[in-house]
Amino acid sequence: MTNTGWKSVVRKPIYSSCVIGETSSTCDKRFEKYSLMKELAENVGTFGVIYLVYNSKKKHNTVLKAIQYVEGVTEVEIYIICALTNAQIPGFIGYVSHIICDEVPSDWLIGRVDEFNAPIVYIEMDEAEGSMYDLLFVVKPKMKVIDMKSIIFEIIYSMHQARITVGLAHRDLKYDNMLYISAPPRTYTLRNSVKIKASSPYRPLIIDFGRSRIEIGNESDPRFDLPNDEDYLFDQLALMKIIKDIGLLNNITADIVDKFNTKEIIDLDDILELPFFDELREK
Ligand SMILES: Nc1ncnc2c1ncn2[C@@H]1O[C@H](COP(=O)(O)OP(=O)(O)OP(=O)(O)O)[C@@H](O)[C@H]1O
Ligand SMILES: [Mg+2]
Repeated sequence: MTNTGWKSVVRKPIYSSCVIGETSSTCDKRFEKYSLMKELAENVGTFGVIYLVYNSKKKHNTVLKAIQYVEGVTEVEIYIICALTNAQIPGFIGYVSHIICDEVPSDWLIGRVDEFNAPIVYIEMDEAEGSMYDLLFVVKPKMKVIDMKSIIFEIIYSMHQARITVGLAHRDLKYDNMLYISAPPRTYTLRNSVKIKASSPYRPLIIDFGRSRIEIGNESDPRFDLPNDEDYLFDQLALMKIIKDIGLLNNITADIVDKFNTKEIIDLDDILELPFFDELREK
């Protein structure tokens, strides 16, 4: 197979609203709208924490990822999550906002954040329900084979769309970095105009762009390393492992796994058209 299929796609220009903004010396005012609900994960990056918060402006819960600002790294993580949301690519966590603080906000956030060296960055995003690990190993007994195929389809579809639209190489695809939310049945249209119905009650959402690379339409910005073929191959192998595990768990002969087992970059559109997904095709 050849990689010209996805490489020839014209990419969108830089998303200027995703370029990180100014830092605030004290962020207290900006934190008034949040109430802390609970800590979801810790030791994210170096001493980072993930919080579930209630956003009183939005009137629902959101998630704050608090990490230490690292020049040249943090800009990229924020830019990528924001660009994916702006490009409306399904299957990625929704970005809401970000705040960069020179001081840890007072009366807000607990313990470990004190160990941070400022500045601290808070990336606000939508809330997901749990990890793919929970879904496969805990919720799974309630799931049908067609649901699992639907999840495999959506993971590949999302990565494919992200690759052809913004040139995303995620570079850290694993169960921990795939969450899910409950969702009504949804439909996708393939390159050959075939419609695919994903009816799983759970929709996968890819997170964590701490190691990701993207083609942003601004190749002169030295902070951004462009993805290379090795990065895309790395994602391809990670996808293969995830699909293999899902297939094994459900006794689905995942004949698509073999297609990933190559040192060439494959056109994910070809994979999405394979008979493996026949059950999902709209009749
Ligand atoms: N939007 C979200 N909704 C619910 N849970 C989340 C969300 N974002 C992150 N989490 C939880 O927090 C964990 C860590 O988040 P994330 O993967 O973004 O950090 P991390 O970058 O992996 O940390 P590290 O830098 O150590 O790799 C996730 O595996 C997940 O369990
Ligand atoms: Mg992670």
